[in-house]
Amino acid sequence: MNDVVPGYANFDEILFSPAYAAECLEISTRALRSFEDEEGVEVRRKSRGTVSARVYTPADLFKIASIRRSKGLTRTLHRPLILSTFIQKGGTAKTTTSVNFAMYLGFKGLRVLVVDNDPQGDATSMFGYDPDLTEEEVIEAGLSADRFVKGSLGNVIGISSLFPAMPLADVVKKPFGEFGPHLLPAEIGLEDMEIALSAANNADFRYAHFFNKGRKGELKQADLSCYDVILIDNAPSGSLMTRNSMVASDMVLCPIRMDKFSCRALERLAGRLNTFAEEYQRCPQVAAIPTMFVKNRPRAIAHIAKISEMFPGNVTDSKLFQSEDYGKALEVGLPLLAWQSASENSAGALRQVFGELLDRLLEIR
Ligand SMILES: Nc1ncnc2c1ncn2[C@@H]1O[C@H](COP(=O)(O)OP(=O)(O)OP(=O)(O)O)[C@@H](O)[C@H]1O
Ligand SMILES: [Mg+2]
Repeated sequence: MNDVVPGYANFDEILFSPAYAAECLEISTRALRSFEDEEGVEVRRKSRGTVSARVYTPADLFKIASIRRSKGLTRTLHRPLILSTFIQKGGTAKTTTSVNFAMYLGFKGLRVLVVDNDPQGDATSMFGYDPDLTEEEVIEAGLSADRFVKGSLGNVIGISSLFPAMPLADVVKKPFGEFGPHLLPAEIGLEDMEIALSAANNADFRYAHFFNKGRKGELKQADLSCYDVILIDNAPSGSLMTRNSMVASDMVLCPIRMDKFSCRALERLAGRLNTFAEEYQRCPQVAAIPTMFVKNRPRAIAHIAKISEMFPGNVTDSKLFQSEDYGKALEVGLPLLAWQSASENSAGALRQVFGELLDRLLEIR
């Protein structure tokens, strides 16, 4: 692929410096270098003046993370987990959280499948795929044929004749190679999932059933047994699709803005989860994440106090700050954590929040 289409980056040409690579893996540059030497990891070199420096693509880093894992140098979960990003309020950074958390977990050596459960396909776009382009348009635009999105969860789950059956292997995308996060993309046809679910038996449990069987390797068309985390990105609507996602989940990630409406949405979610617990005798944990936080604004601080009261112990101590970096990363077609120019205020805060979330995931038995 080349740079013909603005907003779509060629991930194989994203080259991180050793310092940024080490930051992603959260190890020292020295540890990174000696690890490469010991394990005979080959990375590219780029000449800078008279010297040639090591450079890393995101795919290189995910591969290094996976080798580190195989050597027992990373932390592992007690069991595979399913997470949903959801809050019934638009534009609170749900998709930003899903995509970047998947990147973060990948850098920690965990295998992640992001499921785009929003027919808008924003997670799909954030990973560099335009679900609106036809195959011809993808090629005409100078993008590699792999960027063409064909099929979604609907085609893999085998739920209705509205979706022709397709094996996961034909639908799944691997934007950063085998060891980076994988993506089960969305396209507009996924809208029909709502109809398919409403006609299905046991409608609330269709996703749970699919993911559980897939994780046990019991589905020929969708072997999900290699994934540590399945992370489902949801639309802001209260639909059968989002309900299915939550029923299937161990934890719901709720990024919330510090305004009245987001807080109200969180309040409603709390109510909904109580009903859940009664109906299903199970209920996902909640992790509320303050987003687009503006420092020193008294109202924002009051909102934090309110949500902490609603979900005691379940609000991250770290916050995601309002930053132009998110928009800029989108413009260059990269998830923020793959954009080397991101500042401490954006990428640094993401890593802190995700560190807290990972600590929580590591506790789940
Ligand atoms: N901390 C932040 N500071 C500034 N802009 C942000 C921040 N986080 C996300 N954004 C921007 O806000 C917009 C909405 O983010 P995103 O798409 O992740 O929200 P969403 O909750 O998934 O939206 P929807 O409800 O439509 O699914 C995007 O343009 C994103 O780049
Ligand atoms: Mg979204």
